[in-house]
Amino acid sequence: MKQHILHTALLILLFCTINCQASTGISVQFPPNNSYVENEEIIIVLSLDKQAIDGIRVVVGENKPTEISLRPNSANACFGVTLSKGMNTIELLALKQGNVVAHKEMKIFLRSDLFPKFREPPADFKRYFFHFINNEKSCAGCHEMEPTLSNLRPEKPEDSTCYACHAKKYTNNAIVHKPAAQGTCFSCHEVLAGERKYTTPKPDEKVCYPCHNAQVKEWKSKKRMHGPTAVGQCTLCHNPHGSEWPALLRMQTTDLCINCHEDKASGTHVIAGFFGKGHPVRGVKHPLKPDREFTCAGCHNPHAGNTQNLLNHDNSNMAVYCTLCHKK
Ligand code: HEC
Ligand code: HEC
Ligand code: HEC
Ligand code: HEC
Ligand code: HEC
Ligand code: HEC
Ligand code: HEC
Ligand code: HEC
Repeated sequence: MKQHILHTALLILLFCTINCQASTGISVQFPPNNSYVENEEIIIVLSLDKQAIDGIRVVVGENKPTEISLRPNSANACFGVTLSKGMNTIELLALKQGNVVAHKEMKIFLRSDLFPKFREPPADFKRYFFHFINNEKSCAGCHEMEPTLSNLRPEKPEDSTCYACHAKKYTNNAIVHKPAAQGTCFSCHEVLAGERKYTTPKPDEKVCYPCHNAQVKEWKSKKRMHGPTAVGQCTLCHNPHGSEWPALLRMQTTDLCINCHEDKASGTHVIAGFFGKGHPVRGVKHPLKPDREFTCAGCHNPHAGNTQNLLNHDNSNMAVYCTLCHKK
């Protein structure tokens, strides 16, 4: 009996040693576990025991594992990962000569106002913002954390102190937004605004005014404004930094619209042909703007309009309306 207890105790001890070993060697400085963010790219910063490990493998959700190359003689690793909408499980495997010697897992939720099913993070998840003075202290030994005067209007984007960590905000896009590509981050982000740095005014319409005032004024003068535009939520649809899509949109236009107007996705509200096949809403050329794809925005203005239903063209006479694009 006594022996049995001893045996169990030994087993527990042994188990604990393996387990305790497994939790040394690697610790996550940022981001905190169980937090939520609104940006697809996040930066992970680890402290490492360089004696115990010589490599890191990262797995985000179902994606292929990526190997992170470690700097020689550095007890720290910093790298970016891309999240999917909703819950992401990030696995960090510490390696020594190819073997997994330690393992960490964390959960980060990518929230988005655009998708009803990703609007609500779990109740115990906290919003993560990085730029508090206290957080920045752990980087200041190696990175320039205070913006310099030349950040206001850098000659080259790389001259801005933000570039070392946010290079993707400048260059990583097929279509760039001029002020971001030029590195004038402070045309939109406030340098000093209370406790947290680099905030932007809300609603984000205010951010856009200085340069797109004429357009916003014109929209406000129309009879009707589109819901999200009326409340100034420009970045719901537009990425202020850059994008793969025309007009800096967050995604293909029709996909963007049907996040909130699912019932219009098939175009049957315009025509319901045989078998309920509706009007084309993607994949064909725009007859009036040949360089663009024909989408919901081919008929509707996403900002404002004088006609019912924000149509780009008067539809009070339907027969005439259709011939705008369908000439005989
Ligand atoms: C021990 C020094 C050291 C510390 C501390 C440190 N970094 Fe780094 N970091 C570097 C070096 C050196 C590079 C550039 C070389 C490289 O990419 O390996 C870098 C690169 C980066 C990058 C770019 C990675 C990429 O994939 O392009 C980011 C982002 C970053 N660091 C964020 C941080 C943050 C945030 C902190 C503080 C929480 C931090 N680092 C703390 C040394 C450090
Ligand atoms: C040492 C790396 C580093 C530098 C330098 C840096 N940032 Fe960041 N920044 C981060 C990290 C880490 C986050 C957290 C989000 C993430 O993981 O991508 C972040 C987030 C942000 C955010 C989102 C709000 C927040 O606080 O989380 C803004 C805005 C931002 N940075 C602007 C800037 C600007 C402008 C500069 C240059 C003046 C700058 N950053 C320089 C690492 C850095
Ligand atoms: C045209 C205005 C504008 C410019 C220029 C701009 N930003 Fe932003 N940025 C915003 C707004 C607005 C947000 C608020 C979050 C959102 O809705 O996407 C934001 C959010 C961010 C975030 C957090 C969210 C995310 O997408 O990662 C980071 C990091 C950031 N900006 C960094 C930068 C850096 C670095 C620069 C300079 C290269 C820059 N920004 C230039 C308007 C701008
Ligand atoms: C510092 C000035 C500045 C600010 C602030 C600014 N923009 Fe811009 N924006 C520009 C410039 C310059 C262009 C390029 C115009 C051109 O090339 O004709 C542009 C272009 C655009 C375009 C593409 C237009 C097209 O024809 O494809 C969109 C969309 C846009 N901005 C949206 C926004 C939104 C949304 C905001 C607020 C979050 C914003 N901008 C804030 C300067 C600014
Ligand atoms: C519901 C999504 C949505 C919202 C919200 C929105 N936009 Fe747009 N925006 C679009 C689409 C879609 C286009 C492209 C239209 C096209 O293809 O004809 C566009 C085009 C633009 C352009 C290019 C020039 C033009 O007039 O077409 C600018 C500039 C612009 N938007 C700025 C803004 C600003 C500033 C706000 C906030 C006041 C805003 N947008 C709100 C979807 C939106
Ligand atoms: C984030 C959600 C959201 C997105 C994305 C969105 N809309 Fe809307 N839309 C709304 C809301 C909210 C209303 C107002 C509904 C109401 O008042 O009943 C609206 C109303 C409309 C209306 C009716 C206008 C009226 O005054 O009755 C049209 C047409 C429309 N949207 C077209 C579009 C198009 C086209 C797109 C894509 C470019 C789009 N919407 C993207 C939320 C959205
Ligand atoms: C060929 C032109 C055309 C295209 C393409 C088109 N619509 Fe419409 N849409 C109309 C017309 C015309 C009406 C008004 C119908 C009416 O008066 O009965 C309308 C009405 C609407 C309404 C308001 C209807 C209501 O229930 O109050 C919404 C919302 C809307 N469209 C969204 C969309 C979305 C989202 C897309 C893309 C998937 C789209 N439309 C594509 C022409 C179009
Ligand atoms: C702003 C332009 C525009 C308006 C307005 C418009 N259409 Fe179209 N329509 C298109 C485009 C683009 C196509 C795709 C043409 C192609 O297949 O190359 C199309 C295709 C069609 C088709 C063929 C569908 C198929 O599957 O082949 C029908 C039918 C049609 N439209 C009916 C209408 C009717 C009815 C109206 C008026 C209520 C209308 N359209 C208004 C642009 C428009």
